[in-house]
Amino acid sequence: MSESISVLISEEQIQKRVKEIAAQINEEYAGKSVTLLCTLKGAVYFTCELSKHLKVPTFLEFIQASSYSGTESTGTITMKLDVKPEAVCGKHVIIVEDVIDTGVTLYHVKKLIAGRNPASLKVCTLLDKHDCRRVAFEGDYVGFTIGDEFVVGFGLDVDQRYRNLAYVGVLHQE
Ligand code: IMP
Ligand code: MG
Repeated sequence: MSESISVLISEEQIQKRVKEIAAQINEEYAGKSVTLLCTLKGAVYFTCELSKHLKVPTFLEFIQASSYSGTESTGTITMKLDVKPEAVCGKHVIIVEDVIDTGVTLYHVKKLIAGRNPASLKVCTLLDKHDCRRVAFEGDYVGFTIGDEFVVGFGLDVDQRYRNLAYVGVLHQE
C-alpha cells in the first residue's frame, strides 16, 4: 500500500488562525487566568502554539482520552490519563482538542470535567468535521471547519505517524 499526503491547511494558515483565536481568548479572559487542558497526544502542537500567544496567565494540564483505533471511531472512550480534580476545580478551563469528529470524545470529556466544578469551561479545537457528528457537540473556538476526510499533521496522526508535520494534510492510501 502506498501513501501520500496533500496539503489541506498550510503552516501559514495555521499560524494566522492560531493568533486570531489567541487574540479572542486574550480579550474574553482579560483579568482572569486560564487553564488549557490539552488532550493528548493530538492537541499538543496546537496547545503549545496557542499558549505562546496568550497574554493572560496560562496554566497547562493534560488529559488523554482515546476513541480511535486506525481510522474508525469506536464510539466509546477510554481514559488513559486523567487530570487532578484540584487542577480544574474553580479554574477557567479551556479544553484544547485537535479535531472534533463524531463528537463522542469531547462529549464525554466535557461532562467529566464539568463535574469537577470549573469556574468556566469552554472547548477550543483546531479542526471541526462538523458534518460527522454522532452526538450534538459544538466547539466554542474553532480553527477550521473541514469535510469528512482523514487528516494528519500538526499533531494529528494515523497510527502515531505524521504528528510532526507543520501543516495539516489529507492522507491518501492506495
Ligand atoms: P470523535 O470522538 O469522533 O470526535 O474523535 C475525536 C478524535 O478522533 C480526535 O481527538 C482524533 O484523535 C481522532 N480523529 C478524528 N478524525 C481524525 C483525523 O482525520 N485524523 C486523525 N485523527 C482523527
Ligand atoms: Mg485526539
